[in-house]
Amino acid sequence: EKGGYEHFMLKEIFEQPNAIKDTYRGRLLSKEAIIKMAGVEDNMKMFLNANRIIIVACGTSWHAGLVAEYIFEDLARIPVEVEYASEFRYRNPVINKNDIVIAISQSGETADTLAAIKLAKSQGAFVFGVCNVVGSSIARETNAGAYTHAGPEIGVASTKAFTTQITVLTLIALRLARAKGTMSSSDFRRHLIELEMIPDKVTQALKSDSYVKTVAEIYKDAKNFLYLGRGYNFPVALEGALKLKEISYIHAEGYPAAEMKHGPIALIDENMPIVVIATNKGHYEKIVSNIEEIKARKGKIIGIVTKGDKSVKKLADHVIEVPETIESLTPLLTTIPLQLLSYYIAVMLDKNVDQPRNLAKSVTVE
Ligand code: F6R
Repeated sequence: EKGGYEHFMLKEIFEQPNAIKDTYRGRLLSKEAIIKMAGVEDNMKMFLNANRIIIVACGTSWHAGLVAEYIFEDLARIPVEVEYASEFRYRNPVINKNDIVIAISQSGETADTLAAIKLAKSQGAFVFGVCNVVGSSIARETNAGAYTHAGPEIGVASTKAFTTQITVLTLIALRLARAKGTMSSSDFRRHLIELEMIPDKVTQALKSDSYVKTVAEIYKDAKNFLYLGRGYNFPVALEGALKLKEISYIHAEGYPAAEMKHGPIALIDENMPIVVIATNKGHYEKIVSNIEEIKARKGKIIGIVTKGDKSVKKLADHVIEVPETIESLTPLLTTIPLQLLSYYIAVMLDKNVDQPRNLAKSVTVE
């Protein structure tokens, strides 16, 4: 059932090209230049009148929500707040009539997310679900939704659920951007074409596998890791750190790269590996200067870069390349080497990758 892979996690990492394809199949129609999603179409008026979207989720799903915040604001110009479900539900949150709540959950059974949905509904909000498990409690409790079609995710560390959640949320944002007119039709078309190329590019990114293994071997005994990213890739840094923590039990922190100078820079010395996501879009120059600051303090730099990169290559100890794409889609590629890195480190440390200690696949307790 592991399809020849040693662990479910590795199998699920390698399933991502197909999982992403399955998620946009029948929804992304690039020839016609349309996106078809019944859950969005049926509630279009609600979406168009939304003053704000509040995203509630936990863990990796919360990180997908953070990526979605950049996507919705950037493409569809809708203000977004992303909340940990556990904080939202206990905070007496302000929910207005024209707010839309999007709940993201792989399992559809997370107790805090379910409780946040019930609270939002009781205050009159329209709640849209993004779940992987069909017929799950959250899928049933929400007013409408869109499934990720990732297939069963068995490994406790979430991988293909994350990239397919981002895929679904991108489709929704693009559909709304078109409906609102915040995006030109040529730009919209370009996004559809680029999204359709992502599965092949994920396959390319997966080819870094053996090199990532080499990097894992070098740093597997580190006590701490720092993960840095900016913009769309800041949530990816958080997700990379979470993956490492949960399966290898190495302490790791994700940070927005520019925040480094406000504290974490004090941690940097020759024993600190720092994974920096530095694709050639967005804030590339800025992140190169962040890398220079790390280098000056002798930190070990593992750069996640766009194929053909030159500047980071000169500074970093290791670079792992991912194919080029438009900025909003870079998280779907930069995530891949970070999943592999945590996987190989955990395997080398002889940890129980698919069932890490103290963790369960769905957290049905508060
Ligand atoms: C991380 C992980 C957890 C879950 C979180 C939410 O790899 O698996 O952080 O992401 O418990 O779970 P769902 O998405 O099922 O609500």
